[in-house]
Amino acid sequence: MIKIQIPATSANLGAGFDALGLALNFYNYVEMEENDTLEILSADDTTIPTDENNLVYTSAKTLYDICGKSLKGLKIIQENNIPMTRGLGSSSACIVGGLVGANILMGNPLSLDDIVNLSAEIEGHPDNTAPALLGGIVTAVFDGQAVHWVKQEVHTALKFVVIIPNFELSTEKARSSLPKEVSHRDAVYNLSRASLFSASLLTGKYENLRTAVDDKLHQPYRLPLIPHADEVFKIAYTLGAYAMYVSGAGPSLMAIVDEENNFFAGKMRFALDQRNLKLWQVKELSIDNHGTILV
Ligand code: HSE
Repeated sequence: MIKIQIPATSANLGAGFDALGLALNFYNYVEMEENDTLEILSADDTTIPTDENNLVYTSAKTLYDICGKSLKGLKIIQENNIPMTRGLGSSSACIVGGLVGANILMGNPLSLDDIVNLSAEIEGHPDNTAPALLGGIVTAVFDGQAVHWVKQEVHTALKFVVIIPNFELSTEKARSSLPKEVSHRDAVYNLSRASLFSASLLTGKYENLRTAVDDKLHQPYRLPLIPHADEVFKIAYTLGAYAMYVSGAGPSLMAIVDEENNFFAGKMRFALDQRNLKLWQVKELSIDNHGTILV
């Protein structure tokens, strides 16, 4: 039985819609071995599909099919810590877990690049799948056939404090709220900020991050789908966050906070409780530079 650790991811990073993403130190685990039948178990309380529709299984099976290797069945044990449908890359973690697991079981016939490409093809965009595989901050362009990517390790003590609402928002619904066309002005607004984000994060110019996360392509359309989000943004900035953005397609909201801002998470917790948002979670995370690994 092999065991794989896959990080949660936060995509878009504000303006880098479908292009930027980073990995976080919050993990799902997938154990896998070849078996005579399909057997899927949940190692925790999470309810997961235990039939042929399971995303870890379908991803693994895709790889077996590509390699022309027949597969009788798999035994899969999933530990799903990353909450589903919250904008933290839970489906990418399943896809990457299935692909990497199958690749290892077959003796690594596919290269890392192959898996970056295949995972983006399955998910539809690379900004969660690529950082889940590679770790760090990943800049990626999927040209429809291949992903052109750069992974950069981030050595910062910045904290990524994620505020996770107690409701789901499907990527499908969050994407369907977006306009079909945008103006030239809005395109420029975003591309300049997306570039500013990675350059500022990597060089320590954190005072730029608040400007860098602002965007015109998705957050203005998604924020109305997340009740209380505007209020949480205001609280985060009052508490000294460098930046605040919708993580992936939402509904989770991400605050980037200085390492010395010790009480941010506790104060945010208190503010949410006061507003009767006791079921929302606050988690203090940092960047994972390893990506998916065997453990
Ligand atoms: N870039 C994607 C989106 C991430 O914002 O829809 C969610 O999978």
